[in-house]
Amino acid sequence: MIPYGKQFLDEEDINVVADVLKSDFLTTGPKINEFENKVAEYTGAKYAVAVSSGTAALHLACLAAGLKKGEELITSPMSFAASANCALYCRAKPIFVDIDEQGLIDVDKIEGKINDKTKVIIPVHYTGLPCNMEKIKQISDKHNLTIIEDACHALGAKYKGSKIGDCKYSNMAVFSFHPVKQITTGEGGMITTNSKELYEKLKMLRNHGITKDPKKLINKNEGPWHQEMQELGFNYRITDFQCALGISQLGKIEKFIENRRKIAKKYDKVFENNDNIEIIKEKEGQFDSYHLYVIRVKDKETRLKLFNYLKNNNIFCQVHYMPVYWHPYYQKLGYEKGLCSNAEEFYQRMISIPIYPKLTEKEQEYVIEQIKEFKEVNKNKKILSKRIYLRELTLDDASHKYCSWLNDPEVNKYLETHKSTIKELKKYIQKQIDDPNSFFVGIFDKKNDKHIGNIKLEPIDWKKRKVIFGILIGNKNYWGKSIGTEATKLIVDYAFNELNLTEIELGVISENKAAIRVYEKVGFKIVGIKKNAVDHEGVLYDDVIMVIKK
Ligand SMILES: Cc1ncc(COP(=O)(O)O)c(C=O)c1O
Repeated sequence: MIPYGKQFLDEEDINVVADVLKSDFLTTGPKINEFENKVAEYTGAKYAVAVSSGTAALHLACLAAGLKKGEELITSPMSFAASANCALYCRAKPIFVDIDEQGLIDVDKIEGKINDKTKVIIPVHYTGLPCNMEKIKQISDKHNLTIIEDACHALGAKYKGSKIGDCKYSNMAVFSFHPVKQITTGEGGMITTNSKELYEKLKMLRNHGITKDPKKLINKNEGPWHQEMQELGFNYRITDFQCALGISQLGKIEKFIENRRKIAKKYDKVFENNDNIEIIKEKEGQFDSYHLYVIRVKDKETRLKLFNYLKNNNIFCQVHYMPVYWHPYYQKLGYEKGLCSNAEEFYQRMISIPIYPKLTEKEQEYVIEQIKEFKEVNKNKKILSKRIYLRELTLDDASHKYCSWLNDPEVNKYLETHKSTIKELKKYIQKQIDDPNSFFVGIFDKKNDKHIGNIKLEPIDWKKRKVIFGILIGNKNYWGKSIGTEATKLIVDYAFNELNLTEIELGVISENKAAIRVYEKVGFKIVGIKKNAVDHEGVLYDDVIMVIKK
């Protein structure tokens, strides 16, 4: 299975964690400071505070910004729920601003959402692509907002040459070290800032709001053990062994980013001229660190088919993200669908495909090949020949007539069909529609659109490019007119030329001599006979296996 994202861990990573486990400190030891200093140095910020997750980092950043009940926080709906949840943790209200064509907060729509309750703005560097921070800073300065960059996707990214996390355009930046991110500590997060005041607040808040600093005590110092809880903080501490892992991972970050970018550039090159796929390209001033690589397809139906198709071929993609306010919790709070139409449209068509440092060239080639090979069945597209056309069946095709074929002993004589109600038929058709490895079409009369029968290519083995074929001419008015031959020829051509398959196999009852002749006429050859393999109403028949190759 090739996932959309995955950590990279080596022996060195494992050893440094083991070393800490053998030491005196499991938590709040020397590795915390060391990791914080390394991240501060890497990003170019003055200070860094390590915490237990990106979510904890967002929560603390909002608390440090003083966000409170009744106030508002602006963010993007194209993000993980945590980007907005942090407002709710502070009893403030998340306000969603729609996105631009890159999936980033649309800077031209921010001011329209600002009022005197607005306190914080959280731009999300979605997928690792930096937002327009210059504009965001300009707006925030004008309205006196605190900027917290949600850089959970964006360690290693740069905006106009400045590293994300250096806080040149913000008050704080927040990172996540979840395993699919650029570096990992298992769970973990970090806040960077250039403000000493925020830094000290954050440090205190991550540790229950407790301070031991003699200079900061409110009460009289009772002795060397003395500590005071001065605010309502949390236990958002990260462990020492996690930080040891973080330090070791950070040592490899240049290589990680280089690998991610190499993979992304290859995808860019392959997909930019593909009419069926839209990609997100970096613009001037953006240096993407590619936590994710997102492609967009024609519509949500195609997205579902592609997703399932890739899954069936051992490529496990993901969708990032359903707009945050579509989650039931937000719907219950009163956020309505339709709020951010760009984000909603963006979500319906997008899919995140594999990108991570360990993805080999061969694996990437395989992913590219599979995506290129994915041919969707266009519901409305007619596959035409002289007298008939084929098209994918819809639920409306589940008619009484269609049912009556399946219940007619004459039609069924040599077939393995069974009796069906309209309800069962609908269920069956839906299953075929949803199955990416099935191509199920009806045969229709070109003159009057009458439903004549069906053809099924299923299951399709996309890797071996093989498929099993089946045909049913249910409408008896069309018997004896070589419609079956015409339809079989048509589907064989379609399978070879449009679906890129190279081999079609069928099984036919040995008594069905007429059908065998038809298939031979089209080009199928008998490759074997399975004795007594078909049980038709209690009688066993031989199954003749026939194959046609491209
Ligand atoms: C944009 C964004 N913000 C915040 C978070 C929360 O980070 P964590 O999982 O470390 O709590 C995530 C996690 O995936 C994220 O993608």
